[in-house]
Amino acid sequence: MKQYLKLDEWSIIEDSFDPTTHEISESIFSIGNGFMGQRANFEEQYSGASLQGSYMAGVYYPDKTRVGWWKNGYPEYFAKVLNSTNWIGINVFIEGTALDLAKCNVKDFVRELNMKEGYLSRSFVATLEDGKEIEVKTIRFVSITRHEIGAIRYQVTPLNFSGSITVVPYLDGDVQNKDSNYEEKFWLEVEKSAASDLSYLTLKTKKLDFHITSIMAFDVYKSDEKLDIEPSLTEREKYVASEFTVHAEQGIPLTLYKYVANVTSRNYGLGELVPAGKNSLLAAKAAGFEALLAEQAVAWNEKWKGSDIIIEGDVSAQQAVRFNIFQLNQTYSGEDDRLNIGPKGFTGEKYGGSTYWDTEAYCVPFYLSTAESDIARNLLIYRYKHLEKAKENARKLGFTKGALFPMVTMNGEECHNEWEITFEEIHRNGAIAYAIYNYVNYTGDKSYLGQYGLEVLVEISRFWEQRVNYSAAKGKYVILGVTGPNEYENNVNNNWYTNRIAVWTLEYTLEVISYLKANEEAHYLELADKLKLQDEEMKQWKTIIDNMYYPYDEERQVFLQQDGFLDKELIPVKDLAPEHLPINQNWSWDRILRSCYIKQADVLQGLYFLGDRYDMETKKRNFDFYEPLTVHESSLSPCLHVILACELGYQDKAYEMYLRTARLDLDNYNNDTEDGCHITSMAGTWMSIVQGFGGLRVKDGELILHPFIPSHWKSFSFKVMFRGSRLKVNVTDNNVTVTNETETSVSIKVYDQSYTVSSLGEVQVLRSAVTI
Ligand code: BGC
Repeated sequence: MKQYLKLDEWSIIEDSFDPTTHEISESIFSIGNGFMGQRANFEEQYSGASLQGSYMAGVYYPDKTRVGWWKNGYPEYFAKVLNSTNWIGINVFIEGTALDLAKCNVKDFVRELNMKEGYLSRSFVATLEDGKEIEVKTIRFVSITRHEIGAIRYQVTPLNFSGSITVVPYLDGDVQNKDSNYEEKFWLEVEKSAASDLSYLTLKTKKLDFHITSIMAFDVYKSDEKLDIEPSLTEREKYVASEFTVHAEQGIPLTLYKYVANVTSRNYGLGELVPAGKNSLLAAKAAGFEALLAEQAVAWNEKWKGSDIIIEGDVSAQQAVRFNIFQLNQTYSGEDDRLNIGPKGFTGEKYGGSTYWDTEAYCVPFYLSTAESDIARNLLIYRYKHLEKAKENARKLGFTKGALFPMVTMNGEECHNEWEITFEEIHRNGAIAYAIYNYVNYTGDKSYLGQYGLEVLVEISRFWEQRVNYSAAKGKYVILGVTGPNEYENNVNNNWYTNRIAVWTLEYTLEVISYLKANEEAHYLELADKLKLQDEEMKQWKTIIDNMYYPYDEERQVFLQQDGFLDKELIPVKDLAPEHLPINQNWSWDRILRSCYIKQADVLQGLYFLGDRYDMETKKRNFDFYEPLTVHESSLSPCLHVILACELGYQDKAYEMYLRTARLDLDNYNNDTEDGCHITSMAGTWMSIVQGFGGLRVKDGELILHPFIPSHWKSFSFKVMFRGSRLKVNVTDNNVTVTNETETSVSIKVYDQSYTVSSLGEVQVLRSAVTI
């Protein structure tokens, strides 16, 4: 862990250049707009260590599977998010010498991610080997209002000389994925053109035929005077560039504005790519860089209005939570139901940019509360659209009916190939069902059930029906050979969480069926016919519900994570010598598997999801038993512990866990931020504050708050959208104030008392007057 970033409420700031942390910064300072994303690579050439990353949402490559030992059922490929055309490139030569920060002296370096207005800036003074000194100032952003547009202002000022400066803005498609299985390049050139007004490059993927066209244009200014540039043009394979040389005077800035449009065949026919890209580009260029930047600030201001969290009295916590919210909003905007949220978003290649259960279990609550409900709905529809593929997946694994959604996917097909995850982490099906419940419970939009929800629920229930088996020895149904959320143990029998979420899905499916029968009868009959729903199968679901086996320890009165868990040597993590941690970097895999150590919430994941079905005593006993054995080596783990700790009144534990989740990337806690940021667990940070410290729940259509304030904070506030209203909840030592920023009045409960927050009204609850 290395803390090198400055604390600031609205910005992430690095104030000196250190090549050893550059790749970490490239992840942290990434920019994105839900449709494309860009690591904080330098525009000019850089010969030091760097992970190049320009990503286009939904554009991926099916990289042929590479495994040591092939197992039947493995997918043929692992889908990779693609490093695509480097559109930011601007090379700079000072009297013929390339500017390269690895080869010159750098001072006054500042890199800043301005989260309030949504841009990345950088400035520095470089002294070249021959003593020439230049100052460079850059700003770049990807527009959240014009999804195809990226823009850069790149300014060079000679400080101690006048002389020639050569500038080469370019588009380079000769790029590679670091994680390519066979060190293969994934792109082929389709067409290109370099011209003085605008240049473009179209590439296509070797498989699947995704096309991307990148188009660039630029303007050059010396001080305020626009220069008439006649660039010399270069075209070579997968590369186009313009080059021009200007005589620069000492102290006078030379500024290049580079505009780029990136368009893909996901949105346009092949013949339309170049014209569509040109249209977007020319409109952006006509607006001009400063106007685009101002537009960006206004659009980000709107985003913050619905999602900001303010923490008074703790700048580090404030910066961290805004960083998490900013990255989530950069990753997914919810406007395209074919897109989802990869665990690393647009900040790195790891996890292939694919969709995991992280979306349903962690991200859905964030988007439900901070955006209009159709945004979270689109995340659900994404899975609905993959239902046929999930059915095929189940057939492929030998099930005669039902659907098993993939653990990792881009297009609905499973693309992960470790048997203990691919075949065994079937609990993901439960999270996908749970997200439907979560959405309907939060929004009250029951129309979703008949439109899409029931079909998914029935197919998942059919899967569970076949995946259980009756154990004559136990006289109960069991689920054998699974991996629970705790991936530090595989092929276990009766993982409590999996058994529980399976039964919960069956119960909820039957509940939804009763609801639809009673309220949308005609539609229900159509659906029942489409699904060929049989009374027999519903009866069987009921039998499974009533006769499921759950491992339990009578003595401690805790649910057992799986059969045999108590045979382990139970030594709390705090008793391990520090050099053992993290165990995934210090222990052999077999030692981990045999140990009692839990990677992430497992039984506790169930107690979180199904929180209103368990009393405090049960939660307390299980938390007290499992938390000390948990190593939190998944970034998804600490946040759930914050929420449960808050509920149980374990305030110090809650704060300790909060720090772990909130600054995970900023402080590089897990020593892996250079691979990319942990985007999906950032939603967990938001949950920690809103559901943890704020105690937000929704029950029977009512928003419930039960806030407490960590002793390090003076106050904190968060915004939530709820059923047409937007509420601001402010918590201080003395009171909780709920302000309605909309005209839709809403009834809420604070510390178990009911209130109505009327149109544009406010409710204030004295904390000292209630038992918390
Ligand atoms: C976690 C999984 C998660 C995946 C992607 C793993 O380390 O154990 O639960 O889905 O990361 O975030």
